[in-house]
Amino acid sequence: MIFKKFFKKAKFEKRESELDSNIEEIPSHIAIIMDGNGRWAKRRAMPRIAGHQEGMKTVRRIARVADELGVKVLTLYAFSTENWKRPKTEVEYLMSLPEKFLDEFLPEIMERNICVQMIGEKEGLPEHTKRAINKAMEKTKNNTGLILNFALNYGSRAEIVKAMKSMMKEVQEGKLTIEEITEETVNQYLMTSHLPEPDLLIRTSGEVRLSNFMLWQLAYTEFWFTETLWPDFDEEDFMEAIQAYQKRNRRYGGLTD
Ligand code: FPP
Repeated sequence: MIFKKFFKKAKFEKRESELDSNIEEIPSHIAIIMDGNGRWAKRRAMPRIAGHQEGMKTVRRIARVADELGVKVLTLYAFSTENWKRPKTEVEYLMSLPEKFLDEFLPEIMERNICVQMIGEKEGLPEHTKRAINKAMEKTKNNTGLILNFALNYGSRAEIVKAMKSMMKEVQEGKLTIEEITEETVNQYLMTSHLPEPDLLIRTSGEVRLSNFMLWQLAYTEFWFTETLWPDFDEEDFMEAIQAYQKRNRRYGGLTD
């Protein structure tokens, strides 16, 4: 019954009981490509940044429900290395969001024992964005609950190139031999080395692509796509994604009866 509050309508009663019986199958790591903020704003004849502002509210909603469901890691694609190509005003606004979000949400983050982390090139971020992220990471570093992991200035290919360079340097310096390199070794050089691989990937807004997001880590992840735009994405959509995940048969290339 712990899910009751996330299901507002009677038609979801059944889904709720199904989820209850599947509590042990809540995905440990959920990654989300939050897409559709611009279209949400455009449909309302509003500027794109209004969509991002609304998207920030969704981040809070989904972090809360993930926390309450016992999800271990929630990775959110907030800004890609390609997003720098957007107009300066939009980029500036996006770069102000972590600060705004953390200013408002940090007390609740502490209350909920949430740990804020980040993947991506922190050095490329403006000082004020870096400061906000560093402060939140430092303040929450001993929290043992949900890991709220922001992918900011993140690009998966760049991450892999960086990992390869570090690995080759170790080989050059004689600290690692080519024979020793396994998939696990590569894993250790990625920004996600301390995290489990995502069990479930959600992308909103009807786009069906990965957009340079966690290419290595998503090898065996279950994907779930929805037409819903990120600002409209709510607790029920999130539960629907989890329920779809629970019905999947994960075989990792093998067979099951
Ligand atoms: C994609 O939508 C969304 C982004 C590039 C930004 C996502 C950021 C947020 C949801 C807010 C982040 C909040 C925090 C706390 C960091 P789009 O603009 O590409 O939408 P469109 O495809 O409809 O144009």
